[in-house]
Amino acid sequence: MEAGRKRSAVVLNLRLLEQFFRDRAMDLRFVHVRLDPGNLSLQRFDPRLQLVDRQWIKVLLAERDQRIVGLAREEVFKVHRAESLTHAPPKSISRRVAGIPSSMLAVIADGAGGLALVDRPVPEPGPGEVLVKVAAAGVNGPDVVQRKGHYPPPPGAPDILGLELAGEIVAGGVGAEPLVGETVCALVAVGGYAEYCVVPMGTCLAVPDALSLVEAAAMPETLFTVWVNLFERGFAADGDWVLVHGGTSGIGTMAIALGNLFGLRLIVTCGTDEKCARALALGAATAINYRTQDFVEEVHRITDRQGVNVVIDMVGGDYVPRNLACLAEEGRHVSIAVQGGATAEVPVFDIMRRRLTLTGSLLRPRPIEFKTMVADEIRTTVWPYVEGGKLRPVIDSVFPLAQAADAHARMETGKHVGKIVLEVTE
Ligand SMILES: NC(=O)c1ccc[n+]([C@@H]2O[C@H](COP(=O)([O-])OP(=O)(O)OC[C@H]3O[C@@H](n4cnc5c(N)ncnc54)[C@H](OP(=O)(O)O)[C@@H]3O)[C@@H](O)[C@H]2O)c1
Repeated sequence: MEAGRKRSAVVLNLRLLEQFFRDRAMDLRFVHVRLDPGNLSLQRFDPRLQLVDRQWIKVLLAERDQRIVGLAREEVFKVHRAESLTHAPPKSISRRVAGIPSSMLAVIADGAGGLALVDRPVPEPGPGEVLVKVAAAGVNGPDVVQRKGHYPPPPGAPDILGLELAGEIVAGGVGAEPLVGETVCALVAVGGYAEYCVVPMGTCLAVPDALSLVEAAAMPETLFTVWVNLFERGFAADGDWVLVHGGTSGIGTMAIALGNLFGLRLIVTCGTDEKCARALALGAATAINYRTQDFVEEVHRITDRQGVNVVIDMVGGDYVPRNLACLAEEGRHVSIAVQGGATAEVPVFDIMRRRLTLTGSLLRPRPIEFKTMVADEIRTTVWPYVEGGKLRPVIDSVFPLAQAADAHARMETGKHVGKIVLEVTE
């Protein structure tokens, strides 16, 4: 598959795909399929399917006058087999470098709204997992929410904060041995704010020369989140108008960067003129100061009364009906956070009349198999841009791990632009 080609929605005939898998006693649930709700008529066309070595299927699209055809004539999907969901056998390190200590420093929520630096045993990777000696860990909005007690770690997971990191793999469980010695960044459900962290091998991405470890640590959480929500829930395609709130947030800056690479026209909102200027400098088509302008009116003016095709919303509450008013016909509203309220009143008849879609997602609770699929897709589709120096995160500030509380305080001032990162020094 051509590396770095433009991403697009791929249209499949699901019934045909199901039959294809039934014939081969395979499980369709683990195939990554994207449909385009924006144009259901496209789904009439049958793709031709071709199984490649029981690991991948090739989907050959018919040549039609579809907008997607110009972008992608074939897609190859990794088949994630059902076996990968079976319960993990007991932990067993199969390869490790010398000199790994038995305890480490880690940062947890102290239960009273603050953070605490604690000593914890260095965890051991199980099958399919690696142990990373953490060089840097990204700070994200959800970490602040977790610190305040509103976003608990998944059941049974350690209470160490941190959703992303970069560093060297120093031990590998069964199946992950060949990765020992590699420098990676990775998405984790917990544990990044520590000197060592166990990581599923499937969510690791090799750090290219073009990125520092601080930059690499600042990529996974926003990249996975924006990728999934913009393209797989929002079905953004070349030329689409997209409205993203929080244009200078970690999420917003990644959305601008991906939007530029994949031909989207990004309208962002920010809380100050300075932030609007930064968002424009980063490549947003337009930035609206939501404190001094009505973003609904501005969106209609900017899009020549067409509206946007996708909204990525991190505010919720009374933003939701206003966002819906910004959408074009068949538009998609994707919720990723509810900073302004977890409930909303929506105009149901308007949703029917203009065939709008309301959706959303949370990344952390998704299974490792899903995150592995996203990593596979990012590795082939986005990572070539990272390797080529065309995609890198915007770094706001870097704090030592022991000063994680200051990093959170910086995030809560709302003055940051881009990512805040914790650095682990020897
Ligand atoms: N669903 C998921 O899986 C997922 C994953 C990662 C993050 N998130 C969420 O995404 C959000 C951004 O995360 P982050 O790490 O990028 O955090 P961040 O850098 O702290 O960004 C927060 C942003 O929210 C904006 N904001 C807050 N209240 C607003 C309002 N009333 N109107 C408009 N904008 C408002 C702020 O914009 P101004 O400063 O310009 O006002 C700020 O840029 C967080 O809420 C986080 O929980 C969700």
